[in-house]
Amino acid sequence: MLQKLHERLGEEGLTNLVAAFYRRVRTDDVIGPLYPPNDWEQAEKRLRDFLIYRFGGSDRYIQERGHPRLRGRHLPFSIGVAERDRWLDLMGQAMQETEVPEDLAPVMAEFFAQVADMMRNREE
Ligand code: HEM
Repeated sequence: MLQKLHERLGEEGLTNLVAAFYRRVRTDDVIGPLYPPNDWEQAEKRLRDFLIYRFGGSDRYIQERGHPRLRGRHLPFSIGVAERDRWLDLMGQAMQETEVPEDLAPVMAEFFAQVADMMRNREE
């Protein structure tokens, strides 16, 4: 099912989704400060290309970044329940703004929730 998302949303839909997400992240008081301040464009591209790849589109992400190793790549950032929940909240808002079709939204939300929970790396 995840592999079908790119077919339905296209690169354009996923590009718009990630743009709407990062527009919120940049000024967010909880997770905004975790992101390298001068690398927003590239950070946006990395998440966009990852989702395009994971949802069944181009494998540009893999060509440029190699194996995703997402947990390892998030270890430099302190991620607990608050950061996880905020990431998911902002992504939920971005999905609403870009009008992700209602049959796809729960599938994506479930995927995001699972991955976000795996990124937690702070004892609480
Ligand atoms: C749980 C809350 C999360 C926080 C606070 C968080 C934060 C971050 C930060 C600060 C970066 C570095 C920005 C950059 O230079 O690329 C990053 C990278 C990235 N994140 Fe997250 N993230 C979270 C969850 C997720 C989830 C759920 C996904 C996927 C569904 C994801 C996918 C990525 C990807 C693909 C990268 C770039 C990896 C690379 O190629 O270097 N993140 N994240």
